[in-house]
Formats: sequence, C-alpha cells, structure tokens
Amino acid sequence: MSVRPANEGDAESVAQFIIALARLREHVHFQRGLHPAAASRIREMFLKALTRDDQAVFVAEEDDAAGAVGVQWITRQRSLLVLPEHRAMLSHGYIDPAHRRRGHMRTLIEASEAWLRQHDVELATMLVDPGNHASMQTFHSLGYVQDGVSLRKRIG
Ligand SMILES: CC(C)(COP(=O)(O)OP(=O)(O)OC[C@H]1O[C@@H](n2cnc3c(N)ncnc32)[C@H](O)[C@@H]1OP(=O)(O)O)[C@@H](O)C(=O)NCCC(=O)NCCS
Repeated sequence: MSVRPANEGDAESVAQFIIALARLREHVHFQRGLHPAAASRIREMFLKALTRDDQAVFVAEEDDAAGAVGVQWITRQRSLLVLPEHRAMLSHGYIDPAHRRRGHMRTLIEASEAWLRQHDVELATMLVDPGNHASMQTFHSLGYVQDGVSLRKRIG
C-alpha cells in the first residue's frame, strides 16, 4: 500500500472516483444530476492541476491492484482578509469501496499534510456532508474538527 503524487496516467481513475463521489451527492436539493461532459471536464481540470503549484493531487495504490484505488485533491490559497493567511482546501477525497478500511485515506491525508507543511500552509479545511458518517468519522479520527460548515485542522 502506498501513496504518490498523481500523474497524467491517473486521469481516467481520478475522473471515475470524482464522478462516484458526485453521485453520492446527487440527492443535494439544488442538483439535477451529473453534467453529460462531467468526465471529460474532470480530466481537463485534473491535467491542469498537475501543472499548477497551488494544487496537488495524491493517489493511493495497492501492491496487488493495477492503478489508483483512491484520490485526494489539495488547493492552497491566501486569504486577503483574515489570519492565518495561508490556507488549503482538501477536496474530492474518495477511496474505491473494495479498498476501504485499509488506511488509504489516512495515508493520503498524511501525504497531503506533509505537502501543506512543505508549502507553509497553516490551516487545512474541507467540506463534508454532516450526514456522511464514514467520512466524518475518518476526518475526526485524523484531527479535523467541525468549525461552522467546514472541518478544519491547524497544520505545522
Ligand atoms: C470516507 C472514506 C474516504 C474513508 O476512506 P478509508 O480509506 O476507508 O479510510 P481509512 O481506512 O484510512 O480509515 C481511517 C479511520 O477513519 C475511520 N473510518 C473510516 N471509515 C469508517 C467507517 N465506515 N465508519 C467508521 N469509521 C470509519 C476509522 O477510525 C478508521 O481507522 P480504523 O480503520 O483503524 O478504525 C471512504 O469511506 C470513502 O471514500 N467514502 C466515500 C466518499 C466520501 O465520503 N468522501 C469524503 C469526501 S467529503
């Protein structure tokens, strides 16, 4: 089991994971389902992210599985108004159902936080549906605490 920075060869897996994640949220009241071009748009957004220094995408792998089994995306940004100025949003966290409860998300978050520390990010945030029990349990166990509508963790 390992985690590595994503590369171009991961575009299809990452698109499938993010589509699966979006399907979990299809019940959200203002949505009317997935856009027909969702997969190609995600691939395009992913390939762009690989070229940017304010974004990082990590994927999890298992020794006996071909290709990625999960993904975590990071976007860092600077607040113009409030401290801590340098923050990051963790998003699109998803592990293939056949590979859950093996520590992949924990390892992805550890790699993501190491990347945040290297980039002097002080605060990590994420949005999690409060009804998503597995996800809440996972991120609480990794030190993320509810703060208003988001989960937060001080980095460093
Ligand atoms: C939430 C999710 C990312 C967890 O990934 P995972 O690789 O299975 O998580 P890990 O194996 O790293 O679990 C780490 C810890 O989180 C907690 N946890 C994980 N899944 C859990 C579950 N279903 N119920 C209760 N606690 C859970 C446990 O404390 C676990 O440690 P343990 O296995 O030693 O008890 C995965 O279930 C998933 O992809 N769900 C669908 C997508 C999603 O909801 N993503 C969140 C985006 S907002």
